[in-house]
Parts: sequence; C-alpha cells; structure tokens
Amino acid sequence: MKTLVTNIGCLQTPVGSYSHKGSKQGLNEKYNNVEVVIEDGIVKEIVANGKSDGSAFDQVIDAEGKLVTPGLVDGHTHLVFGGYRQHELAMKIAGAGYLDILRAGGGILDTVRKTRDASEEALYEKSAAFLDEMLGFGVTTCEVKSGYGLTMDSELKMLRVINSMKENHKMDVVPTFMGAHAIPPEYEDKGDEYIEFLCKEMIPEVKKQGLAEFCDIFCEEAVFDAAQSRKYMQAAREAGFDLKIHADEIEAIGGTELAGEMEATSAEHLIAIKESGMDAMAAGGTTAMCLPATSFYLGATYAPAKAMIEKGIPVAIASDFNPGSCPSLNLQLAMNLGCLKYRLTPEEVLTAVTINPACAINRGDLVGTIEPGKQADMVIWNAPDFEMVCYRFGSNLAEKVIKKGELV
Ligand code: NIG
Ligand code: FE
Repeated sequence: MKTLVTNIGCLQTPVGSYSHKGSKQGLNEKYNNVEVVIEDGIVKEIVANGKSDGSAFDQVIDAEGKLVTPGLVDGHTHLVFGGYRQHELAMKIAGAGYLDILRAGGGILDTVRKTRDASEEALYEKSAAFLDEMLGFGVTTCEVKSGYGLTMDSELKMLRVINSMKENHKMDVVPTFMGAHAIPPEYEDKGDEYIEFLCKEMIPEVKKQGLAEFCDIFCEEAVFDAAQSRKYMQAAREAGFDLKIHADEIEAIGGTELAGEMEATSAEHLIAIKESGMDAMAAGGTTAMCLPATSFYLGATYAPAKAMIEKGIPVAIASDFNPGSCPSLNLQLAMNLGCLKYRLTPEEVLTAVTINPACAINRGDLVGTIEPGKQADMVIWNAPDFEMVCYRFGSNLAEKVIKKGELV
C-alpha cells in the first residue's frame, strides 16, 4: 500500500529517536512545501518541493497547504475506570483539597469501588470510546495505567482491558501496572503490608502474564512514602519492569530523588519538585512527565518545566486523563498550558508531546517524529503553523489524523 501526503504547507517535527533535553528540547525541523511518501504504514521519504505524480500511489491525502506534525503521544493516562466523580466538583468548589477527598474515602477509592464493580466488557467499551476521542484530538500513541482495582483480580481485569485495546484498537497503547495507586480499604493503615503483597504477589503475576511494560507508584503524603516506593520499584526492576513514579505532585517527599537514583524512565507530576529532585533526575536520565491540565484542574501551581529543561531533563507533557484530577483527554489543552503556564516555546511543546513521551514509553524508535523508517502517524492541522495550534484554545484543531498511513 503506497500513500502520498501531498501539498504540505509546513511539516514540523523533532528529529531522532532519543529524548531531547536542554537546547535540543526546542529543536524542530520545519520543511515547507513537501510531500511524505508512505509505504505499508511506514514513512519512506520526505520529498522536497514535491510535485509527485499521484497516479503512482494507492492513496493520495491532500494536506491543502496546512501544517503537518507527528501524531501526538500521550505518555500518562488513567483512562480505564468505572463511573465518574462529578459529585466531587461541589466539594472542590466548597474548598476541599484533593487529599482531603481521598482521606475521607472518596477520590481514587471511590473510583476503585466503581471499577471493581464494572465488568471487563463494560470497561473495554468505555475505554475504547475514550481512545476514539483521543485519536480525534490527534493522539496516536498513549500509555495507560491500571490502579483502580487494587486487588489481584481487579488489577488483572484492568490490565486485560488495556492489553485488549493494545491488540484491537487503532491507537498504539502501552500498558503500565499501577497497583500502588492508593492503599485499598482492605489494607487501611497497613501500607507496608500492601506493598509487601504487591512486591511478592502482584508484580510477579503481572510479569508472568506479560500484561505490562512499566510499574508506577503514587509516592505522596498519605499514600506511599519514599521507603515504600523504593521497595516497590526495586521489586519491579528485579522482575524486569521499567519504572515510573508519580512524584512531588502535592508534597515533595523524596519521590523525584528516588526516581533519579533508580534511573526511572520517568517521574510524573513534579509540581512541588525541589532542586535536589531536579538534580537527581538530570543525573539519572529520568524524563519529566509534566501534567499541566492537572495543575489547572486542581487549582495548583505548575511544575517548573522551563527550569527542568535548563537542568538538562527531557520534558514531556501528557494529559493525565483520569476521573478525579483531570477529566479531560484533550492533549491540545495541555499543550496550550505548556506555553502559557510553563512558558515553553511551541517548539519545546511539540517535542514534549511527541518524541520525548515516545521515548518515555519505550517507543522512540517507532513513533514521535516524521522520518524515514518511522511509523506514519501524523496530524494535518487546521492551522498554517504550530504557533497557531498553541495559541488557539478550546477548539479541536486536528483536522485529519493519519495512523500507520491510514486516515482515521
Ligand atoms: O495522576 N495522582 C494520582 N493519580 C491520578 C489521579 C487519580 C484520581 O484522582 O483518580 C493523577 O492525577
Ligand atoms: Fe496520574
């Protein structure tokens, strides 16, 4: 199958299959008036000043002189969950904080109850519909975490849903086991015992069944402390998983220092990160997975993404789509906030939603740039340049989404 994407006004893309840090974060190639030749879902060639003969192709996609970028990569989502939590809105408006709601048995634990009750089929239907919506926003690859089951059976159920989307959905899906998302009610005040159970039983079982590529833990005040996180991450690494950690979201309790020391692939949230955490992450080669729409939704401050770039930490921006702290799956909104709140340039933002998250979910050799040999995942934007995409907000500017060479 040969496809030609013709009449591209501007093709903007990072280059290379590695994490872009420091001054490379803002390095994008911009080609004007080009065409992209795709063969069997893979980019074959970028043709300069292209006026190729369309009749030599099975399919011709006309970009109508608009902007084309790589398909977006959303490196942090919790998109498999039962129910919603719209009732928390009134509590939030009345002034309740995220951890207040969690401590009162709501928040994540509310979603845990609803996810345990949901059938595998119902979870699949709901989650696959989210993936459809994300594709419409230009996201062509995403990571998905478990973590609303917190028992062996319900975590495996969530992971099976994630893996069956990986098999059956157009979206490229990367599964992460996050059994350490909260202390389940059965282990109230027994966090150490729950960690023990995760390390001894759940992590090995998830590995045995081949259901995840990463393990993640919520290292936070009133959830798991740094010592518990270390133990969990060590067990995960010994089992052969790559590591992620939710760290310094509300309080900096050592999660980012640990991430750097253990050379975790990514540390995520980072709103409250301190200098020592940044230094550790830079030394450990850990990607900063920043989640500005969550800051917005929690009314929190914003992670110091610019300072992290200056420290030489690769920065990625993700949606964090989940029913509590970020009920939006529109990565374009996070991109707007990346410019307006993190003060990143559009070029730095493009890197943060393409190659950097691709590398942080071990897909850097496959997606995240438009280059010969990479998967043909692209967005044709209703915009002449990427500045326009970052400047407009609240609309969906993704006009046509191409996944493995096919329009979706
Ligand atoms: O990344 N912070 C922890 N986990 C999610 C929120 C999950 C929830 O509230 O349901 C997050 O924001
Ligand atoms: Fe999260």
